[in-house]
Amino acid sequence: MSRQPSTLVTNIGELTTWDPERPSTEGAAFVIEDGKVAWTGPAVQAPAADTAYDVGGRAVIPGFVDSHSHLVFAGDRAEEFTARMAGQPYAAGGIRTTVRATRAASDEQLTSHVANLVQEMRRQGTTTLEIKSGYGLTVADEARSLAVAGQFTEDTTFLGAHVVPEGVTPEEYVDQVTGPMLEAAAPHAKWIDVFCETGAFDADQARVVLSAGIGRGLKPRMHANQLGAGPGVRLACELGLVAVDHCTYLSDDDITALRDSGTIATLLPGVEFSTKHPFPDGRALLEADVSIAIATDCNPGSCFTSSMPFCIALAVREMGLTPTEALAAATRGGAAALARDDVGSLLPGKRADFAVLDAPNHLHLAYRPGVPLVQETWVGGRRT
Ligand code: NIG
Ligand code: FE
Repeated sequence: MSRQPSTLVTNIGELTTWDPERPSTEGAAFVIEDGKVAWTGPAVQAPAADTAYDVGGRAVIPGFVDSHSHLVFAGDRAEEFTARMAGQPYAAGGIRTTVRATRAASDEQLTSHVANLVQEMRRQGTTTLEIKSGYGLTVADEARSLAVAGQFTEDTTFLGAHVVPEGVTPEEYVDQVTGPMLEAAAPHAKWIDVFCETGAFDADQARVVLSAGIGRGLKPRMHANQLGAGPGVRLACELGLVAVDHCTYLSDDDITALRDSGTIATLLPGVEFSTKHPFPDGRALLEADVSIAIATDCNPGSCFTSSMPFCIALAVREMGLTPTEALAAATRGGAAALARDDVGSLLPGKRADFAVLDAPNHLHLAYRPGVPLVQETWVGGRRT
């Protein structure tokens, strides 16, 4: 293969690389070669490159890694959201409304809907994303949901154990999920997930589902402690999962278990915003030496945002994180939560995935909530 021309990205107001010595620097530049970061450092020391790209004094950050989304669905639940804002509680059973709409949609409709949402994410600086199934809940509908997801990401997650669908007992459904559904899903999935919560699956069922997935070569992850306290987070830690997602209701024992296991707590602040549940204390997690990630959880029920900058602003305002901690959780934290070492920072050797912000520095992501600051998104050294 012929070598692509190298590019020197220059005139950067502030460059965030997550170099431990200098996480963010002014007057920096970097070189892209063959889709990867080849060099970063002070602009005055920049090596020669085939072309130069001047970002006009703007800030450059690593692209966001959104490690938790449910983009394969049809229909919307705007009325359910509106009722919640007027005081109705969120219930896991709302998932079944989306299941009906998703089953009724054609493959083409599902694919073009995902394409639109991925495009929406790209415009807001997301360069890596995970996509779950979970609104099909039959063998054929879960397999096709994952086949659609696989057109957009390598991080596809089988979430047959999202909720027990109508017309089947929980026992029968767990047998389906761990049997024929897993067989049909596994060729299209990298991960297996389970919604461990009252109204969805209990800890014993979650263990059975994850064990079956592991036996079929999938990597386990979990939704836990979203709607109330429970055993999910401790189960995730006991099983040594890479990440456990939501973590809205955590006891001191849960926090100790997260710290001791090294399991990443993925925080989804858009969910607390959209369900009116209390925000978890991100500051307490960091102070307890728990690793965290921030993701959108983009889905039609509990949180229909595709915006990582919105989630960063919420994490700063409502979870006690600094803007720098929130950006780290939304980039290298998300990469760690997906066990990806090729993305999440702009250190030499990483994929050249970055966003150019129409702002002088990354603090503006939280300082200017709701403002579309992402001016350009680059993936693998190419502007998208
Ligand atoms: O991550 N928690 C489970 N699943 C989704 C919500 C699904 C829905 O309400 O449609 C979530 O919040
Ligand atoms: Fe989710």
